[in-house]
Amino acid sequence: MIASVTRARPRLLFARHFFANPRGIGSMIPSSRRLTQRLLAGVDWPSARVIVEYGPGTGVVTRAILAQMAPDARLYAFEINEDFVAFLRRAIPDPRLTVVHASAETVASALAATGIAHCDAAISSLPFSIMPPRVRLRILAATARVLAPGAAMVGYQYSTRWLRELRRSFGNVAVDFEPRNWPPAFVFTARSGSTPAG
Ligand SMILES: C[S@@+](CC[C@H](N)C(=O)[O-])C[C@H]1O[C@@H](n2cnc3c(N)ncnc32)[C@H](O)[C@@H]1O
Repeated sequence: MIASVTRARPRLLFARHFFANPRGIGSMIPSSRRLTQRLLAGVDWPSARVIVEYGPGTGVVTRAILAQMAPDARLYAFEINEDFVAFLRRAIPDPRLTVVHASAETVASALAATGIAHCDAAISSLPFSIMPPRVRLRILAATARVLAPGAAMVGYQYSTRWLRELRRSFGNVAVDFEPRNWPPAFVFTARSGSTPAG
């Protein structure tokens, strides 16, 4: 009973914000366990020390990242929704997690402010395909700059429309599909190492 109440609160918070701002949130319910697993399969966990997450929402992916990452690794989660930021800071008191109340566009300057030049993985839940193209391009360019050589940006989308843009920024993009999510989602893994655009 208590567990189902604890699960219901973030779901209600998530749905409320979806109805207030569907394009900003991108999905009515949080990602499924299957989608989260598929998303995180592209990360090299033993070597990842600095990880960034974009769009943690109410934290389903955040919790799964924390469960897999090393005890001495750090996770910086970028979220623009103030209520989600407050919820995450309260609900996930893990000292390895820093919730940054800012757009993913600021990833390079936010990491630089803590003395970090590169990250070993970027994990995105952002609604890239429906966000303003200039914001999307700024996030892709900033991510390509901060990812360590060979490191991956992984993410999911409900459409493959903008993947050509992703390929222009990263060169090396693999696409997978997870049907056990609502809606079913395409999971992408984009690797740095080629020359980033923008
Ligand atoms: C589809 S929800 C994902 C939530 C959760 N990670 C999941 O998988 O269920 C997308 C999230 O991205 C956040 N978001 C949208 N644009 C953003 C941006 N430019 N920077 C950081 N977060 C953003 C939204 O506020 C929302 O919490």
